[in-house]
Amino acid sequence: MRVTMVGTGYVGLVSGACFSEFGHSVICVDKDASKIEALRRGEIPIFEPGLDKLVAENVAAGRLSFSTELADSVRGADAVFIAVGTPSRRGDGHADLTYVYAAAEEIALALDNYAVVVTKSTVPVGTGAEVERRIRALRPDLAFDVASNPEFLREGSAIEDFRRPDRVVVGTESDKARAVMRQLYRPLFLLETPFVFTSRETSELIKYAANAFLATKITFINEMADLCEKVGGDVQDVARGIGLDGRIGKKFLHAGPGFGGSCFPKDTLALVRTARDAGSPSRIVESVVAVNDARKIAMADRVIAAAGGDLAGKTVGVLGVTFKPNTDDMRDAPSLDILPRLIAAGATVRAYDPEGMKAAAALIPGVTWVTGAYDTMADADVLVIITEWNQFRALDLSRMKRLMKVPVVVDLRNIYRPDEMAEAGFSYHSIGRAP
Ligand code: UGA
Repeated sequence: MRVTMVGTGYVGLVSGACFSEFGHSVICVDKDASKIEALRRGEIPIFEPGLDKLVAENVAAGRLSFSTELADSVRGADAVFIAVGTPSRRGDGHADLTYVYAAAEEIALALDNYAVVVTKSTVPVGTGAEVERRIRALRPDLAFDVASNPEFLREGSAIEDFRRPDRVVVGTESDKARAVMRQLYRPLFLLETPFVFTSRETSELIKYAANAFLATKITFINEMADLCEKVGGDVQDVARGIGLDGRIGKKFLHAGPGFGGSCFPKDTLALVRTARDAGSPSRIVESVVAVNDARKIAMADRVIAAAGGDLAGKTVGVLGVTFKPNTDDMRDAPSLDILPRLIAAGATVRAYDPEGMKAAAALIPGVTWVTGAYDTMADADVLVIITEWNQFRALDLSRMKRLMKVPVVVDLRNIYRPDEMAEAGFSYHSIGRAP
């Protein structure tokens, strides 16, 4: 099949490369000429394990190409995916659909045969209907369908998630569109991946409901962690003890500094707005948003408390600033709330992240960026672990102790055990485990 992917952001690029690996002929389109140029040279604009190799292989096989010309790329396509950004609109938290509608209208003007226009971007309920209305207004005689096909891949394991998804969701009432979508995902059918065929509105809602539910799970366990600290429990055992119940499930029960990233914060907020506008407010998701926002801020207070209540003139070492490991993405990362507060409290902050420092330096002024994990610790009064990169999981504890001025560690991801840290001579503070 011939596929056009409009938008070479995270979702567009990964999905485009993976569809080409399925054997389809894929053109990825973006207005950003420098990005397309870079992709043609084999340079990948994001850090995602395995993506460079996947792109190179499929480009070499002639199945994947890049273009800035939307109209030329869309002609003759069986499916045209809209995978452009839907950021939070300034002021009201609604998803900004400007790019989605602009893409839809450009696609409408260029199509010359039946095609399925597929929204892959995360879009609020009703967007597919509006895309259809706009295309029809411009091209009343065109044969086309608009389907919703949300993406559930995670940064850092995006390729694996695309190749082996828990399910594929397709929203359309059209048999013809369903047949095209089935053909596109044929290798997954053969792997017996469950497919959920439903209405467009339901499909759009499934994406928000999934992200909001996962964000709720995380926020719930974070609250249990706070309670554990007060009453003397261990949140990791709580997570295991409840997660082994198949009805609850053990994933997304890691307590931490609060969820960040390009999806959960934006999507929970957009769902809150949609639900309110519909006169059916979601009190649960509203609480999740508020609790998570407050949590990220409160993490800085933990560091200050661990350093004896005062950071003036002290040095804080920071390990990890991205919102999670295996990405260079800083969007809504907890570090964006934590680091400025440490600096405002008078601390000198020495930070290291394997991939995120370039983006972070532009967002958090006043930080001393260093070149390796141990460099953060020189003369430090306290060390904070904010992101659980693998390389931080097995640090040489005696070397750490020698480097630091005061051996205090605040581990916001629970990657060390309290007993090993105590034995190594650290005052160790973690999440949801009594010190
Ligand atoms: C999330 C979803 O997991 C994907 O299914 C979805 O496709 C994607 O959003 C999207 O809508 O595009 P992602 O944002 O890449 O993926 O990252 P996650 O692995 O879900 O992590 C999100 C945040 O939650 C991170 O800050 C992470 O540290 C935090 N988290 C996650 C926890 O604090 N505890 C957990 O147990 C899991």
